[in-house]
Amino acid sequence: MSSESFPAGEFGVRILDLARELAQWSEMQDGLMCTFFSPAHKAVAAQLRDWMGEAGLEAEVDPIGNVVGRYASRAPGAKTLIVGSHYDTVANAGQFDGRLGILTGLVVAAHLKQTGRQLPFHLEVIGFSEEEGVRFSAPYLGSSAIAGNFDEEVLARRDATGASLATVLRKDGIDFGDIQSLAYRRETLRGYLEVHIEQGPVLLQKDRPLGIVTSIAGSARYRIFVQGVAGHAGTVPMALRRDAAAAAAEMVLAVERRCSAAANLVGTVGQLRVPHGLINVIPGSCELSLDVRSTDDAIRDAAVADIRAAIDEIARRRRVTVTAKEVSRHRAVPCAATMQAAFADAVGRAGIEPFYLPSGAGHDAEMFAGLTDIGMLFVRCGNGGISHSPLETVSAEDADVAARVLLDTIANLR
Ligand code: GLV
Ligand code: MN
Ligand code: MN
Repeated sequence: MSSESFPAGEFGVRILDLARELAQWSEMQDGLMCTFFSPAHKAVAAQLRDWMGEAGLEAEVDPIGNVVGRYASRAPGAKTLIVGSHYDTVANAGQFDGRLGILTGLVVAAHLKQTGRQLPFHLEVIGFSEEEGVRFSAPYLGSSAIAGNFDEEVLARRDATGASLATVLRKDGIDFGDIQSLAYRRETLRGYLEVHIEQGPVLLQKDRPLGIVTSIAGSARYRIFVQGVAGHAGTVPMALRRDAAAAAAEMVLAVERRCSAAANLVGTVGQLRVPHGLINVIPGSCELSLDVRSTDDAIRDAAVADIRAAIDEIARRRRVTVTAKEVSRHRAVPCAATMQAAFADAVGRAGIEPFYLPSGAGHDAEMFAGLTDIGMLFVRCGNGGISHSPLETVSAEDADVAARVLLDTIANLR
């Protein structure tokens, strides 16, 4: 296998510049937020499509908002290698979660095109429209469509304004059939690669710029509604209260306790809301989210069962009622040994000792597991490994080495 030689430094600076430019479109005044089919989201899609076009790729935005840039192979019967990640964000997001992977794919594809390098497969750089699940509590809208596992049920999900996903799509003339028609057939795919910021502190602590992902944790997510009895904050004696928020607080601690008790397990209550909450009213109801993850589905499911039992016990003791609704469930998936090896070879050729780690975060790559060989390359996250925050950082040097490794990996894939 050959090692490719590329100009050092150029890719990284360009990737960071492009990420900064994309961050100008936001739904928030003082931070970055870009959720599915918002004006900011559509502006980012148009910009990505334009950049892909300028790079000489055949570029389009598909009906579910994925931006697809294709560098076609001349090889007869060529399959397609997808290099993708997402361009939607959480609220008050960093600039690199998702976008780093699209932009890395973009600069690499642009380089291949400029240098006239022929590949034995079509290369498609895809900016997936939705991975975070922010607007409709339904993650992977873009990648699931391409992978052929878009769940029709999510069309009924509603955003905070009450608009369903089906309605939002219909406004743009898009129906379920349009989404179904985006599915790629297994026999046409060569593989799926994704570069992503690590979003954690492991590479930073190990002093490594890159990591090869071994597997992606599965997740189970719930919305939990606690119903107590509202009352006057000054008149109801403590022993007689049925305070929904106090019960929810105990539930949060039960999640923390159970998920701290096992390795390879994390649990988070990221949302807590007291509807109609006021300073002088005992909380009558409380809504909370629950997200439990592990790279071992059995460990995760055992934790979920214990958490649900703990929640029931708390509810009984505090005389509140609880309903829990599962909103998503994704199994843990391994990355293909072949793709791990392809990345490891390129990392080695870049003079870096390969380092392997699992992913605790979910990624679009998951959607393609079982359909084609998937591989993921993590890039060191600065600032203590903070992500899903404006404090998220990546250095130009690390982005550069990631792009060179991706280019070398693609150039050596057959
Ligand atoms: C996506 O960012 C996730 O929640 O893992
Ligand atoms: Mn994210
Ligand atoms: Mn992401």
